[in-house]
Amino acid sequence: MESDLYQVIYASAATRPIEEDELLGMLKLVREKNRRLGITGMLLHCDGSFIQALEGPKAQVMDLISVIRKDIRHNRIAVLFEGPIKNRSFSQWSMGFNRPSEKELAKIEGYTPYLGLGEDPKSIQNYSSVAIKLLEAFRELSEQKPSSIDA
Ligand SMILES: Cc1cc2nc3c(=O)[nH]c(=O)nc-3n(C[C@H](O)[C@H](O)[C@H](O)COP(=O)(O)O)c2cc1C
Repeated sequence: MESDLYQVIYASAATRPIEEDELLGMLKLVREKNRRLGITGMLLHCDGSFIQALEGPKAQVMDLISVIRKDIRHNRIAVLFEGPIKNRSFSQWSMGFNRPSEKELAKIEGYTPYLGLGEDPKSIQNYSSVAIKLLEAFRELSEQKPSSIDA
């Protein structure tokens, strides 16, 4: 078992529409860096929002999250979960990626676009459980039928 494993899950709003090409380019760099740092996780991009889970040795996760926070491609970062974990949830992916379709999103109970989130801490709580459900749904989906953008 790995010791000192830590996980952070956050949601953020994209500051502008991001093209598929640009995202795939970013993912390539992200995956190289995550492999180097021993970080695994999953990134979802939907309705102009990002939802990301990052996990790995605590120091590496904390350093990376502070770099990601400063990235001008997104803002309104809301941490939904942060804490020590016993096992990785996304051990197969240096950064899994998916763009859930509206149809897939509609299947997740309680889903509302991030931009409707507001500042109410209760709505962050609600969003947090929805975000985690989404990440789990896409982890299962990726386990069933891996695609080229999952890696
Ligand atoms: C939504 C989002 C998720 C990101 N996720 C990661 C990630 O998992 N790993 C990573 O190294 N960079 C990630 N980045 C990119 C970082 O912000 C940063 O550009 C990258 O780590 C390069 O940093 P450096 O030039 O300081 O090495 C992400 C950026 C955005 C907008």
